[in-house]
This record gives sequence, structure tokens and C-alpha cells, in this order.
Amino acid sequence: MSLRDALRIPARDVTDEAVYRDRRRIVAGLAASGALGLSGCAKADAPAAPPAAKIDPARMRAGFTTAEPRTTWQDATTYNNFYEFGTGKGDPSKAARTLRTRPWTVAVGGHCAKPGRIGLDDLLQGLTPQERVYRHRCVEGWSMVIPWLGVPLGDVLKRFKPTSKAKYVAFTTLADRAQMPGLGYPALDWPYREGLRIDEAMHPLTLLATGLYGKPLPQQNGAPLRLIVPWKYGFKGVKSIVAITLVEHLPFTSWNDQAPDEYGFFSNVNPNVDHPRWSQKTERRIAGTGSKLFADRIPTRLFNGYAEQVGSMYAGLDLRKWF
Ligand code: MTE
Repeated sequence: MSLRDALRIPARDVTDEAVYRDRRRIVAGLAASGALGLSGCAKADAPAAPPAAKIDPARMRAGFTTAEPRTTWQDATTYNNFYEFGTGKGDPSKAARTLRTRPWTVAVGGHCAKPGRIGLDDLLQGLTPQERVYRHRCVEGWSMVIPWLGVPLGDVLKRFKPTSKAKYVAFTTLADRAQMPGLGYPALDWPYREGLRIDEAMHPLTLLATGLYGKPLPQQNGAPLRLIVPWKYGFKGVKSIVAITLVEHLPFTSWNDQAPDEYGFFSNVNPNVDHPRWSQKTERRIAGTGSKLFADRIPTRLFNGYAEQVGSMYAGLDLRKWF
């Protein structure tokens, strides 16, 4: 088994428990022996965005909420992926309690007229948090429905005046070994990083979330600031953001670096493009705990059900090639 095979991680729900545990043991062993040295790799640019299509405001707003039953607070805050605090679903809700979320600054830079490191309150000043009830679909095959609180990322980015060279946006998570025990395991090339094309970043559905269920974000959900892109797999939603950089070329993204054949840059939810190791045709809504954790499977929808709002951004793109 190659190193990369050994490190292909987020599959507890799709992978046999014994295999999953064995993989964690392998990661721990490799970390202890210092045998891992994952690094970023150069990538070709993804195709440019097609000219912006006109979006009907009423259709856009229709994407801001859903009448589907909401996942409980209990499930959304105890069944998490936040590898900086461990790879078990229940690890972050325990281990992230010590994450200090105040004071918090975000460095905004790159191709913009007004770069700077700015305190969270100043970053969001004057922007009223909005509630958005979004479907939240993990690449592993589980999903939730969550009422987030947040502000459109585009409204924040405009304040920094992106230049015409800003073709992509790169996001970086805090990586503080003193606070994040999971950083001791090289599950990913830390810090956790993600990216969007600029039109995706400016899209009205894309949210910088500060809360959920009308309350501030708990640490395990990515406090104090995380990204939500509801038509993409959940791993695009980088947590505890410390840097946002406007860049000209395709940015480094953690899961794509770790397993490029499994996690594409776009990672749009797509029932027609299977993960190499499991089907993406259906998903299980998280409901309850213990043996009742998963409800019945439901069909997965193209762009997670947001095709009307976002489909035009990918017109002409081969979604199998650019997955
Ligand atoms: N952000 C960081 N920094 N570290 C992570 O491990 N996991 C991602 C994403 N953001 C992750 C992250 C994955 S795989 C998913 S599915 C979502 O966060 C999970 O968000 P939730 O725990 O709030 O449901």
C-alpha cells in the first residue's frame, strides 16, 4: 500500500470499520516514525468561468432556504469533521472546546487594492447576518440540513477591492499545534486549505458563516468563521479561517493534494460522478445517535439541489473531467 493510499481518510461511513481503524493506526505509525513528507504539487489551471449568466433574483432567493426537516442541533454539533481535532466524528466536539476564538484576525491579501490583517468584528462590521437553511452534503455520503447564520462572502470580498488578476480565492485554516492536537498527525499537509473560483466566491449562495441555529458557531463547527458553499461537498467548507487570499492561479487545496483522483478542485455535488471507492448516487441524512444515526438513503441531487442557482457557472464544462 502506498503512502497516499494509507492516508485516504474520510471514509468511516463508507469504509469497513476495521479498515478505517487500521488506516488511523497507519497514520499514527508513520507520523511517529517521521516517514511522512507530503507537500503541495503544481497544478494546471482549471478552465475559466463562462460569461456570467443572468440570474433571476426570485430563483436565487429560493435557494436561501428549504422546507426540508432540519438536522438537530445535537447531531450537527457532535457529528463533525475537523481533523485538526481528531479523525473520529465525535472527537471535535470534545477536543475543540479549548480552541480560542477571540481575539481573531483574518489576513486578506493578494490581488486586491486594500489588503490587510483585520479583526473579525471589523471584517464583518455593517453586514447583517442572514439565516440560510442549506443542505450540507459530505463527500463521504452523509448529509444534514442546517440553518446557518452568516454574510455573503462576496460582500466581504468587495470591501478589499479585488483586481482583475483575482481569478481564484484561497482560504487557510488556523494551524496551532498548542490548540489543535490533530496537527500532530499528518493526515493532511497542514494547514487545511481550500479554494474557489472567483465567480463561485462572489455567488450569492456562498456564505461566510458565524453561527448556526441562531447561535454563535461552536468551535467544532468552525468557529469563529467558516466557509459554506452549499452546492459543493462539505470539505470545501474550510473551518476557523485565518487567511483569505485573492490569487491568479489555481490555489493549493488540501484534499485534492492528498488524493487528486478522489477529490477534485470543483467538488460539486454530483450523483453521476462516483467517488472511485463508493457511489455518490444516494446519501443518508444524519438523524439521531448511536444505532439510529442514519436515516434511510435518499437520492443525491445535482449541485446538491442548487442547479437552478449555480448551474450556469459550469456551462460547457465536462463535469466528469473537472469534478
Ligand atoms: N475544515 C478544517 N479546517 N478541517 C477539517 O477537517 N473538514 C471538512 C470541512 N471543513 C474540515 C474542514 C469536511 S470533510 C466537512 S464534511 C465539513 O467541514 C464538516 O463540517 P461540519 O462538521 O460542521 O458538519
